[in-house]
Amino acid sequence: MAASFSFFTGVILMNILGLYASPRPQGNSSQLLNAFLEEAERLGATTSRYRLNTLRLQGCQACYSCRQPGREKQCAVRDDMQPILADVFAADVVVLASPVYMWQMTAQAKLFTDRLMPVLKPDYSSWLSGQRMLMLYTQGQPDVARFAPYFDYVNRMFRFLGFRTLEPLVFGDLRGVNDVQRQPGHFERVRQVAAELVRNG
Ligand SMILES: Cc1cc2nc3c(=O)[nH]c(=O)nc-3n(C[C@H](O)[C@H](O)[C@H](O)COP(=O)(O)O)c2cc1C
Repeated sequence: MAASFSFFTGVILMNILGLYASPRPQGNSSQLLNAFLEEAERLGATTSRYRLNTLRLQGCQACYSCRQPGREKQCAVRDDMQPILADVFAADVVVLASPVYMWQMTAQAKLFTDRLMPVLKPDYSSWLSGQRMLMLYTQGQPDVARFAPYFDYVNRMFRFLGFRTLEPLVFGDLRGVNDVQRQPGHFERVRQVAAELVRNG
């Protein structure tokens, strides 16, 4: 969905879907995603948020129902992915905040990703309409370039699904649940990226 312009307020109306993929509700990635979404809302965006770890979410069951005529864009698995999928289609921007676990996104984030099969048409082109995907990673490793090949690979996968990918936000040297509090620059950075997105559409 394309962001719309309000003639009454002169503001671009942006719809942002925030997905929390850490099991730690108050952890570093959650705090940074909160700051991102709060700044976006402050500037006029609407947001919806899901904490993947607390939801009833199954892995993709490979039934291929979503590839049957009349079942397009729908998932046959009746669980908490249903509203998330609807929000993906309605979103202008999806922000997926995941810690790095074993050099990759968390299992919670991967499970969400596998369940995106309904965004693909039977010919593997996409039903999406310009939604952007922003990955926000936190990691213990201080070198934020350490997993760059993986982050690039993930963005390529999301482009295959039809998203317009944004440069991932990567924050390192974060282990304790509150380590990010020692790094006020991280919050400034996510707020800045949120503001640029909302202002520029
Ligand atoms: C099971 C597990 C695996 C991890 N694997 C990595 C890793 O491969 N590389 C890394 O830099 N940090 C790794 N970490 C550290 C987390 O990415 C890091 O602490 C992150 O900031 C946690 O995010 P959170 O506070 O939002 O939960 C791992 C942590 C756990 C619990």
